[in-house]
Amino acid sequence: MAKHALPTESPKERAFLVGVEIARDAGLLSVEDSLQELTLLAETAGLDVVGSAKQRLKHPDPKTYIGSGKVVEIKDLAEEVVADIIVFDDELSSRHLRELEKAFGNSIRVLDRTALILDIFAQHANTREGALQVELAQYEYRLPRLTRAWTHLARQAGGGGGRAGSSGGVGLRGPGETQIEVDRREIRRRIATLKQEIEKVRAHRSRYRARRRRAAIPTVAIVGYTNAGKSTLLNRLAHADVYVADALFATLDPTTRRVKLPQGQYALVTDTVGFIQKLPTMLVAAFRATLEEIVDADMLLHVVDITHPMAEAQAMAVHQTLQEIEVGDLPTITALNKVDLLPGGSALPQDIDAFDRAVPISAKTGQGIDVLLTVLEDELYGDPIEITVRLPYKQGKLISLFHEHGIVLDSQHFDNEILLRGELPEHLVSEFSMYQSPDGTN
Ligand code: GTP
Repeated sequence: MAKHALPTESPKERAFLVGVEIARDAGLLSVEDSLQELTLLAETAGLDVVGSAKQRLKHPDPKTYIGSGKVVEIKDLAEEVVADIIVFDDELSSRHLRELEKAFGNSIRVLDRTALILDIFAQHANTREGALQVELAQYEYRLPRLTRAWTHLARQAGGGGGRAGSSGGVGLRGPGETQIEVDRREIRRRIATLKQEIEKVRAHRSRYRARRRRAAIPTVAIVGYTNAGKSTLLNRLAHADVYVADALFATLDPTTRRVKLPQGQYALVTDTVGFIQKLPTMLVAAFRATLEEIVDADMLLHVVDITHPMAEAQAMAVHQTLQEIEVGDLPTITALNKVDLLPGGSALPQDIDAFDRAVPISAKTGQGIDVLLTVLEDELYGDPIEITVRLPYKQGKLISLFHEHGIVLDSQHFDNEILLRGELPEHLVSEFSMYQSPDGTN
């Protein structure tokens, strides 16, 4: 009997990784740990990691980033394992990319960490806004680096990101100088159009957010290092079905769910993009959709995978990004996740002390979730604020907001306005700031 040919999968591209430790700026992770993370990133991007090398340097070489001797060594190693691509664990300048490509020859391409992360983001952005933002970030990254390096991205990226590579015919290997000039002009045009489109989508979003604010339910943004368990936790909290995957950056577009708190109040909880050390600044800016949810939140729920050997360094990386987007001082509760995997099923006291207001939980088994919800409720609804406001009758929405969500201790009617004295949950006080009356008298 004739054998049926098995369906053939196109072979994965083979990647050789290069990590560099620069003496002056010790990163959050050691070069070894960072390379391990790069391996996971490369695998998430669909590459097959076939080897790696590292170098300690005082400062990067202006031409080739790594030293010239190391370039030769890596070329030999990469050829030995038949690598298609060499991936650097840092962002490379256009000069570095050009010089390295020259040194490694035609059969091997060079990528950097940023390009890899952009590639993964392109594969995972599901909404129109997410896709537009990744495409913009990819173009902005590529504009000064038009070399054959990004043919990888052109082929790998799906959705909106994929279009980035194919338009303008720039995905070909080794375009000539003239072609590069034409491509540059085309890319600048595309960047301008993308920015306009994103503005339109954003305007729509902010109208939607304004509506949600008026609904007066406080918002909580879940933040955390990639793979910490944010989506699993949101599923658990909202009994919802958010996509969960053991892969990096499964969540690129914000997902919001309504969560019921123990005393019957509600919170809107939003899942956000996974953070990562050395997250390209360009992407921090590009992911405004997700990050705006954080900026607008009443508080943050920081999920830490407490079983991860680098849990503290990962939490630091998250804090750094939060500082960059200027939300470092929002009230924060830390959920120390995956305690079901720890010996004894519980976090150690010193681990709990190492984090900001930490609650050990397992998003998977539900352990500790009741405590977490109580802490959230206390933060959002505890200690109401005493306030007196004079509201014009035409502010009917605010008047009913006060009655629905606050406790009215006294009310007096005047010709054009009502005076209300009472208690409100803290997150609602700002809604009334224009009408606040210091002592409740005329
Ligand atoms: P990104 O989208 O990459 O940012 O990931 P995430 O933080 O949303 O993580 P996600 O919820 O997708 O979970 C990542 C992996 O961790 C999945 O395989 C989950 O099943 C697993 N996981 C999440 N929470 C727990 C937990 O409490 N215990 C255990 N054992 N595994 C968990």
